[in-house]
Amino acid sequence: MVVRKIKDGISWVGAIDWDRRLFDSLVPTPKGTSYNAYLIRGSEKTALLDTVDETMEMDLITNLMTENVDKLDYIVIHHTEQDHTSCLPLVLDLYPTAVIVTNAKCKELLIEFFGIDEGRFTVIEDGETLDLGGKTLQFILAPWVHWPDTMFTYIPEDKIIFTTDFLGSHLATSDLFINDPERLYESAKRYYAEIMMPFAGSIPTYLDKIESLNVDIIAPSHGPLYDNPDLILGYYRQWAAGAPKNTAVIAYVSMHGSTKKMVDILSNALVGEGVHVERFNLAESDTGLLAMALVEAKTIIIATPTVLFGAHPLAVYAAYLTAAIKPKAKYATVIGSFGWGGKTVKQISDMIAPLKCEMIEPVYVKGQAVEKDITALKQLAKTIATKHAESN
Ligand code: FEO
Repeated sequence: MVVRKIKDGISWVGAIDWDRRLFDSLVPTPKGTSYNAYLIRGSEKTALLDTVDETMEMDLITNLMTENVDKLDYIVIHHTEQDHTSCLPLVLDLYPTAVIVTNAKCKELLIEFFGIDEGRFTVIEDGETLDLGGKTLQFILAPWVHWPDTMFTYIPEDKIIFTTDFLGSHLATSDLFINDPERLYESAKRYYAEIMMPFAGSIPTYLDKIESLNVDIIAPSHGPLYDNPDLILGYYRQWAAGAPKNTAVIAYVSMHGSTKKMVDILSNALVGEGVHVERFNLAESDTGLLAMALVEAKTIIIATPTVLFGAHPLAVYAAYLTAAIKPKAKYATVIGSFGWGGKTVKQISDMIAPLKCEMIEPVYVKGQAVEKDITALKQLAKTIATKHAESN
């Protein structure tokens, strides 16, 4: 536990979770994460912005003790999810006069999740302000990045905006700020792919809003802060609104090598056609890396054998995940091999149908790929390359 000063009257009082390797029992976090909470001290009032995951509640409490916070006037909650709120009941007990400041949706969810007494809330509207004395909290409702309850807080006197999960990264680091693009890129893109990409349609509006404020500092709820906001705002512009690239992502699984042989043939043919290939063996890949590759892919290829009557379960998982995180790919197809039957192609095609990609003719063969199948795979590569070139 450690307190880190950001500006006069503004400190980071959260927790760094160096060892967390999985989020939501779903998202790999190979570089850990942090739960950022902030203490804002005006001349009149004191506010805590968010809390931390309850597994690290003592870090937050110790930080508040270190700062000699004997009274909290407000606890601003930007988003209900438990990694930021599960120790809220404890903080409310420790500061019995503190008032939770949040929006109506977040209040509703906090009451449902934690049974917090209704009398402890003040509900704010979009654009409303709260004066702490020389520090004004200006609230900006930002639903759907990534929950309906999400909101930001901007402090105009310090030109700092607190954006909760939006623009964050799962990166445990001793650096309060990050300015090194190489260190930032992977963690921020992985986070975007897994958490924010399904809401890409909402994102440009919020980027415009933040840019219009001309902020000096962006302070998210996970990972380091940004004192060069253009870096992360630029990445989000590209990821959310930029055109997909000349990339084909192949997510594959193979039981006895027949499907892998087809993947090898298709990969080589795509490379020969000038298409950038990213491929992931689902039996051993980090799904976060797959999600990252999908951010800017133009074509998605699910390669799977048939197991019993349908796709291999790892391919089902990949197809489900792909449909859920909603990459902006334009084309998709299925390749693989079967033994005696099944409805694998239809099953996978139906699963990724919500992406509204154009489905390219699959290459699905009985047993080992033979000459005609190899020809079909090479033709598939040509078709993908042509479509990529035409849609530039
Ligand atoms: Fe970091 Fe949506 O919670």
